[in-house]
Amino acid sequence: MSNATTLLRALSSTLETAGFEEPFKEAEELLLNGANIGRTILYRDNPFLEKPLLKKIKFLLKKRLKRVPLQYLTGYTEFFGLKIFTPPGVFIPRPETETIVEETLRLVKEEGLQRSLILDLCTGTGCIALCLAQHLPDTIVYGVDISEEAIRTALANASINRVMNVKFYRGDLFGPVRDKRFDLIVSNPPYVKSTEIGELPPEIRLYEPLESLYAGSDGLEFYRRILQNAGDFLKQKGHLVFELGIGQSYIVSEMAKNKGFSPVRIIKDLSGIERVIILRKG
Ligand SMILES: C[S@@+](CC[C@H](N)C(=O)[O-])C[C@H]1O[C@@H](n2cnc3c(N)ncnc32)[C@H](O)[C@@H]1O
Repeated sequence: MSNATTLLRALSSTLETAGFEEPFKEAEELLLNGANIGRTILYRDNPFLEKPLLKKIKFLLKKRLKRVPLQYLTGYTEFFGLKIFTPPGVFIPRPETETIVEETLRLVKEEGLQRSLILDLCTGTGCIALCLAQHLPDTIVYGVDISEEAIRTALANASINRVMNVKFYRGDLFGPVRDKRFDLIVSNPPYVKSTEIGELPPEIRLYEPLESLYAGSDGLEFYRRILQNAGDFLKQKGHLVFELGIGQSYIVSEMAKNKGFSPVRIIKDLSGIERVIILRKG
């Protein structure tokens, strides 16, 4: 047996020695999850933890020391106020992706698109589609992903968050929605160059699905493919909203102009990186 706060200090110290950037925060998450208790119980009651719980926490620590992402160990991540289930095998939603949700909601308000049809390409856990559907109850949001695991997870996330106005399909980009025309298409596609994969942190490189990252030798393969066809799937004056990788805003904007889109604006994320581009058909 050990009491919780003593164990917390020990976990934090182990993670610090192993070079983790936020050892205390991570230790807290591992402990709360392993022991299945809330923060109040931890600090108010400082409970003694029995052997089976200690074993579970030790198991999580061992995995984390092998750089398994914390979100795969806890099973969840917070995204724009939603609890998103993140099992191994699906891309973990990033905080900077909240920018595309925020900006799409702003665009919907500006353009009066509250009763529209929206498509989220490369939906992953469904995080973007679900946030849009939840904030825009009169829309129908379609989410498409090529990964079976992603679609299974997105469906689970719709149910966990009780979002009804979404539909998820497995397939290659526009494949499953060939007969539909949308007011708005959003996408956070893979955008890492093949040469950069090796430089990614081990959490990403070793554990996240490669198909969620890799976008050809220049990192632009998905923007190219989506821009090639998006015009056919958008209604007149429809909008296309992309999340961008670092340094991709100029080239994506030029590619879009060549395909008949007009750039509306580029938006920076909280770190000052040009993260989202809004384009209009025609
Ligand atoms: C960067 S992740 C984004 C996931 C999610 N939209 C988010 O923001 O967290 C890219 C996603 O694209 C999916 N994907 C890769 N190739 C695809 C394709 N050809 N058609 C549809 N989805 C694809 C991957 O499975 C992955 O879930």
